[in-house]
Amino acid sequence: MADQFETVRGIIGRYHHDRSRLIQAMYEIQDAMGYISDPILAMIAEGFGIAKSEVAGVATFYPHFQLKAKARFVIRCCSGVVCEICGNAALREAVRKTLRIKEGEATRDGMFLLKVGGCLGACDQAPALMINETLYGKVRPEDIPDLLQGVARGAAMGEKS
Ligand code: FES
Repeated sequence: MADQFETVRGIIGRYHHDRSRLIQAMYEIQDAMGYISDPILAMIAEGFGIAKSEVAGVATFYPHFQLKAKARFVIRCCSGVVCEICGNAALREAVRKTLRIKEGEATRDGMFLLKVGGCLGACDQAPALMINETLYGKVRPEDIPDLLQGVARGAAMGEKS
């Protein structure tokens, strides 16, 4: 399974510990992940060689930064080259149609948020997408409604138990 933090590590690595570009890196990370969770704040601090409280201070100062998920499940559709060749555009369209949301939007019930980002590190399973930390590979557009229904149903069952 792909490590969701690989994306974050990759972004941090591109900034070469340059503290003057911290905010830019944080914007990029939020765009990729949907929000900046506590473990990600810690990764950013370590990557830039600064205190976590300093990164948290930046995140709370600027209203654009989200420290909590806007939705219970973040769907991350891959836009990497391999997935694009394998038809990820149709997958994204199926997600948009099924949930009636655009990229970057959350469903009204707060269940799903759609993000489109770079390679998920699972090119051998293209086209791929992730829902929170779970990777789904070789997904077909016609699988999307059942897949999303199953995730929502599983969440509802979890609440009842
Ligand atoms: S290009 Fe999609 S997982 Fe790598």
